[in-house]
Amino acid sequence: MPKQVDSRLVLGFESSDDAAVIELDEHRYLINTVDFFTPIYNDPYVFGQIASANALSDIYAMGGTVLNCLNILSFPSEVDEKVISEILRGAYDKVIEANGVIAGGHTISTDHIIYGLSVNGFVEKSKLKTNSGAFPNQKLILTKKLGTGIYAKEINLNKDASDCQEVITSMITLNKKASEIMHKYRVSAVTDVTGFGLIGHLCEIAQASNVSITVYMDTLPLFDRTRELALIYPNGGMKRNFSHFGKHVQIDERINTQANINILFDPQTSGGLLIVIDNNDAEELLNELHNEGINAARIIGETDILTDKFIKVK
Ligand code: CO
Ligand code: CO
Repeated sequence: MPKQVDSRLVLGFESSDDAAVIELDEHRYLINTVDFFTPIYNDPYVFGQIASANALSDIYAMGGTVLNCLNILSFPSEVDEKVISEILRGAYDKVIEANGVIAGGHTISTDHIIYGLSVNGFVEKSKLKTNSGAFPNQKLILTKKLGTGIYAKEINLNKDASDCQEVITSMITLNKKASEIMHKYRVSAVTDVTGFGLIGHLCEIAQASNVSITVYMDTLPLFDRTRELALIYPNGGMKRNFSHFGKHVQIDERINTQANINILFDPQTSGGLLIVIDNNDAEELLNELHNEGINAARIIGETDILTDKFIKVK
């Protein structure tokens, strides 16, 4: 892409933040984001909810409030109308929960179903959260469990299993409440864990903030069978993430197993917020997240002065 310089553009293509940020008026920024994918779950209503929660998440990762959305939809002509209306109903329900409006959209005909949303949000200038605000000696909190990519096949094969239901519930849960709670604290940097996996999104924060991050493997919140399924369902996304981000990571040799690598690089759908916060405030924020029902939240690591590797896993 040619590089565009425009004083209205606060964060654009060049930064690896969650969304584009544009000057709206004296007090507020406009936040734009877009996300879409092919169905990962064979219940169309649930897939619509997942795709919608996933697309809305980048607004919350910037500290913003959802404003309006447009549907992005494509499907083969032979698909039953009912399937499409169920996808749209699932997405609509999540946008309503986000206090947003679906204002329209665009549909084309293709070989596969694709669904997603473009989303606008806004944020008061002082409340904008980016990847670049972390300092050394802070804590990292992750608000959802890891393993949605690893579970992708299992949730379609074994949907009534309680852990599969937990994965689905996690993916359709908006990051809205976690975002609202974090605003009560001095939070330095925020992103959401999605396609680049935990390590990829940690790398973005480390790189943008010029810090190193140490992650403690045994503190990571995992679904019940994330570890067991990690070796059974390796996916292309985790391999791509490893080849892209692996050079920035040093994994302690005692825990450098294929299962751990698969977990660390597994692409997440509608993953949790990754919040960087002062040491002194971390426990209090964690307790408040737990009290508000965000039980999966854990302190997973800390920042440090930048050394030769962006990420260390111990
Ligand atoms: Co994001
Ligand atoms: Co995104």
